Amino acid sequence: MIYPITLYGDSVLRRRADEIVEGEIDLKGLSNDMFETMHSAEGIGLAAPQIGISKRIFVVDGSMLEDEDMKKFKQVFINPVIEDESGEVWSFEEGCLSIPNVRGDVGRRSVIKITYYDESWQKKTEEFGGMRARVIQHEFDHIEGKLFVDYLSPIKKKLLKNKLSEIMKGKVETHYKVKK
Ligand code: NI
Repeated sequence: MIYPITLYGDSVLRRRADEIVEGEIDLKGLSNDMFETMHSAEGIGLAAPQIGISKRIFVVDGSMLEDEDMKKFKQVFINPVIEDESGEVWSFEEGCLSIPNVRGDVGRRSVIKITYYDESWQKKTEEFGGMRARVIQHEFDHIEGKLFVDYLSPIKKKLLKNKLSEIMKGKVETHYKVKK
C-alpha cells in the first residue's frame, strides 16, 4: 500500500516517535508498505513519521543509485540506537521527501555504530560509513523529530523561509502523493 507522504509543517514530523514493542505491529507488512511508498516517490530512505506513523522504524534502499556500495544497501531499522558517531564531519547536499524541491548542505560524521532490530526482530549492532551512515543519520533524525533543514546556516534558512512556508500550506508540486 502506498501512503501519502507527510509534508514539512505536519506535527508528526516534529514528534519524538514511540518505541515499537515486539508483536505490536505487523513489521513485515509495515516495512513492505514503507518500501513501496519510498520507491513510488524515488526516495532512498523513509521513516514512519513520513507516512504519518509516529513509530521508531525507517527503511533504506539505495538500489536505484549508481554508487556500487549504495546499490546493495537495503535494510529495515527498528528501535535504532546510535551508539557512536566518529570520523570526520563531511558536508553533502541533502534533500527529503517531506520537504520537496529543497536541498541544503549538511555536515555529518562519517562513521556510525548502530544497534537496531530488523524486520524479523533480530537485534544487530553494525558499523556504517560514508553515504550509508549519512542516510541512516538523516532517517534517524526523522524519528527524533528532527529535519535536515534544522542544520542549515541562518542565511540559508532565511533564503528558504518562503519556500518552506509554501510547503506548510501545501503549495508544492510533487511527482508523488503527499498528505495536504
Ligand atoms: Ni527525510
